[in-house]
Amino acid sequence: MADNAWAQLQAVAERDKDALIAEQFTFDPQRLERLTLTAAGLYIDLSKQSWTQQGLAAALELARARKVEACREALFAGQAVNTTEGRAVLHPALRASPQKQFSALGEPISEGVMAQREALKAFATGVRNGTITGATGKPFNAVVHIGIGGSDLGPRVVWEGLRPRQPEFLVRFVANIDPADRQEALAGLDPETTLVIIVSKTFTTLETLANAEAVREWLARELPAGADIARQIVGVTARPQKAEAFGCSRTFSFCDWVGGRFSLWSPVSLSCAIGLGWEVFEQLLAGAEAMDEHFVEAPLEKNAPVLMALAQIYNVDGLGRTARSVAPYAYVLRRFPAYLQQLEMESNGKRVTRTGQPIERMTCPVVFGEVGSNGQHAFFQQLHQGPHVVPTEFIIVRQTHDDGAEQQLWANALAQSRALMVGQSEEAARDEMLAAGYNEADAVRLAPHKTFPGNRPSTAIVLDRVTPHTLGALIALFEHKTFVEGVLWDINSFDQWGVELGKSVARSVMSAASGQKEDLDPSTEALLDHLVR
Ligand code: F6P
Repeated sequence: MADNAWAQLQAVAERDKDALIAEQFTFDPQRLERLTLTAAGLYIDLSKQSWTQQGLAAALELARARKVEACREALFAGQAVNTTEGRAVLHPALRASPQKQFSALGEPISEGVMAQREALKAFATGVRNGTITGATGKPFNAVVHIGIGGSDLGPRVVWEGLRPRQPEFLVRFVANIDPADRQEALAGLDPETTLVIIVSKTFTTLETLANAEAVREWLARELPAGADIARQIVGVTARPQKAEAFGCSRTFSFCDWVGGRFSLWSPVSLSCAIGLGWEVFEQLLAGAEAMDEHFVEAPLEKNAPVLMALAQIYNVDGLGRTARSVAPYAYVLRRFPAYLQQLEMESNGKRVTRTGQPIERMTCPVVFGEVGSNGQHAFFQQLHQGPHVVPTEFIIVRQTHDDGAEQQLWANALAQSRALMVGQSEEAARDEMLAAGYNEADAVRLAPHKTFPGNRPSTAIVLDRVTPHTLGALIALFEHKTFVEGVLWDINSFDQWGVELGKSVARSVMSAASGQKEDLDPSTEALLDHLVR
């Protein structure tokens, strides 16, 4: 059944590949209504996507054939949807209201989640109000969050998105193994008033442990002799014994049913709960929970994560578009593309099915992006006139400032998405130049350069403001979209074996660099010679 649905989607996409998006509004007067929706307070417009009405119907049929609704139920029911690791995937349980009950592989978990939320709240509030103090008894005024990948990107997006412009509590992030990152994060901080939070699901990640050791040394060096530096080191992990062995005075743990890149709803965001305040963190959870409810309750044809996933599948597998760009038009969301890169490419950048069979079609596109309008002055040239069609997601914020300055932002976003769709013919380009006083020869010569093919798809997602609630909803929207894509492609979105080979080769390169005999190729040997020998 799914094979038929795939074949049908590909046939319709092939047939309609030259259909003009702008004309679809005339052919289907309901298009705007059909393809716009409100989900958890976000307004989402998929009407500038490439699908025709039949294309959309074929995509929805694929969702039914791939049993998206049953797979969604399995996820929320705590079944082992992470098939390769035999784990449930229950980030929605972390943001659910207390009355909701979840189980992981049949074991009730909600009571434990709530108890942990209370412990986190007490700790975050204690640090914030000064009742929990550092090794010399001084209250904290800064947090250094050490972590990488899923233990970094989510909390970083949240902090950057929501932090007060003049925070009374500083939160700094260290991810990179390059000491420059750490040095920058520690610059100007008072070691006596700095709380260090080491975040690592496995507590084995090379970069995180190297940074954690270096920051611990910084504390030991800078604090008065005999100070109990452990009081200033907290661990967040699924392996609490390892954090304790490292010397964390306090450890917040989370379970294996929380995937790293889906973990920002857990103690992984302790730094944000401290820096932003507990109420803000709770509103973030509430925004995500509202999106969970939408995802669970809305019918497929009005379901935001489902439609966004289907639009992507239509572009990738129907029309061969293997890249997508993301442009948030709010400076505070500038880290969002980096967050999405991990969420989507680590989840779905895979080439075998859940049962290990080769996937015969393209899967996750290359995701890249930049805050608007900066991106317009960088890669948008390629989006408008390059040979690849790169679908774009515009994240637009109705109000970012109180003085109307955001109009510049959203006007640009709307202009770009419209320009991508309508383009400009060679004739129009020539006429425009003639009207502007160019001579005929120059107008003809330059017209091809000023021609825009148009018909390039985009999605618009509109937030009223960047608030904890809207940001929580936005992140959850992309989480669920990523999951639905995994279902459509038959991918397990919740493992990441693809990062392991690089880690083990790095170990042999390090050992070769220190003189051990390793079986390396001539190019790598030569590079090593160039670097160290
Ligand atoms: O190496 C990839 C990865 O495992 C990501 O999946 C994860 O988010 C990141 O590293 C950090 O892992 P950890 O939280 O275990 O330190």
